[in-house]
Amino acid sequence: MTTNNKTVLVTGSSGLIGSEVSTYFARELGWTVHGIDNNQRAVFFGPQGDTRWNQRRLERVLPGFVHHELDMRDRAGVLAVVREIKPAAIVHTAAQPSHDRAAAIPFDDFDTNAGGTLNLLEAARQACPESPFVHMSTNKVYGDAPNLIPLRELETRWDYADPAFANGIPETFTIDQSKHSLFGASKVAADVMVQEYGRYFGMPTCCLRGGCLTGPNHSGVELHGFLSYLVKCNIEGREYRLFGYKGKQVRDNIHALDVARFMAAFVAAPRAGEVYNLGGGKQNACSVIEAFRLAEAHTGRSQVCTYVDQNRVGDHICYYSDLRKMRAHYPNWDISVSLDEIVRQIAEAWKQRG
Ligand SMILES: NC(=O)c1ccc[n+]([C@@H]2O[C@H](COP(=O)([O-])OP(=O)(O)OC[C@H]3O[C@@H](n4cnc5c(N)ncnc54)[C@H](O)[C@@H]3O)[C@@H](O)[C@H]2O)c1
Repeated sequence: MTTNNKTVLVTGSSGLIGSEVSTYFARELGWTVHGIDNNQRAVFFGPQGDTRWNQRRLERVLPGFVHHELDMRDRAGVLAVVREIKPAAIVHTAAQPSHDRAAAIPFDDFDTNAGGTLNLLEAARQACPESPFVHMSTNKVYGDAPNLIPLRELETRWDYADPAFANGIPETFTIDQSKHSLFGASKVAADVMVQEYGRYFGMPTCCLRGGCLTGPNHSGVELHGFLSYLVKCNIEGREYRLFGYKGKQVRDNIHALDVARFMAAFVAAPRAGEVYNLGGGKQNACSVIEAFRLAEAHTGRSQVCTYVDQNRVGDHICYYSDLRKMRAHYPNWDISVSLDEIVRQIAEAWKQRG
């Protein structure tokens, strides 16, 4: 690898985070971007999850963008691409991302999330072990253990009653002995493997345990991408189904741009085997029913919803990320897009996409 190599390999490049980070590295940093995606999201979620539009958009607007139509489960294919490109940084966002979907497709889920990550890690170790490796993990690695924290019920949301969590869930929280869903378990496998390639091999890897990552380029569906899907339902007058917890379950929302900004900060000053909780934090947290009000304020339309008196298996009642470790390690990074602005942009995007 030459020292002036400014090539980043982004997996899942047609997805929400992959497309944002591709755009950020190309436009803001002037890097050449190689993307891997095989539109598997359409296989996981049907036509509503199709991400080809986003692939075509990247090919149109990003100079030098190279798309690789490759399945992350194809070990030889992944090894060959990484060997050929020898990227100066790798950002891994390709995944089966849904909690609920995983139970129906356990092999596809595990082979993609755990196996695909191992394929990429080993390819990186063989071809470019000094290149920073950023892995998109998830807060579902904590399973439903956050639900054991004492809560208080407010008028429109749940919140932590234990002052130890006043700033949210820290990275030291247990990932063990709780219910994860098969998705959470496959992501735990990947998360620990990414840490191990950092700790055992000394590679500059990190896991970003995402809260709700969102933004205008999300192809939100009922099983994944709640805020994007909620706003879409609002605009189309379509029924949104609220699952349990009185609709007061709390999510912390972060704009994909702020995710990309953090990834760039890590690539510029990498550390080995790190873990960060990456969400919107308390300031960008809202309950589902509070999200209805936000959407309504931006669209002028009432949210149509039905309440299902059964929570999703293992669903968090209240979750927001403690961002203090990220801010301490990367003081120039912070949340730059407010929740209100996120909802405004999502509403605008759905209107444009028709
Ligand atoms: N969006 C969220 O709220 C959220 C929250 C926490 C963690 N995450 C994690 O962030 C990452 C990115 O999430 P996202 O919201 O951008 O998801 P996304 O579904 O929008 O993007 C993932 C992309 O990966 C591609 N992909 C999936 N399997 C593939 C395979 N086997 N080979 C090649 N490409 C494949 C899909 O086609 C899709 O374009 C995932 O690891 C996810 O678990 C997301």
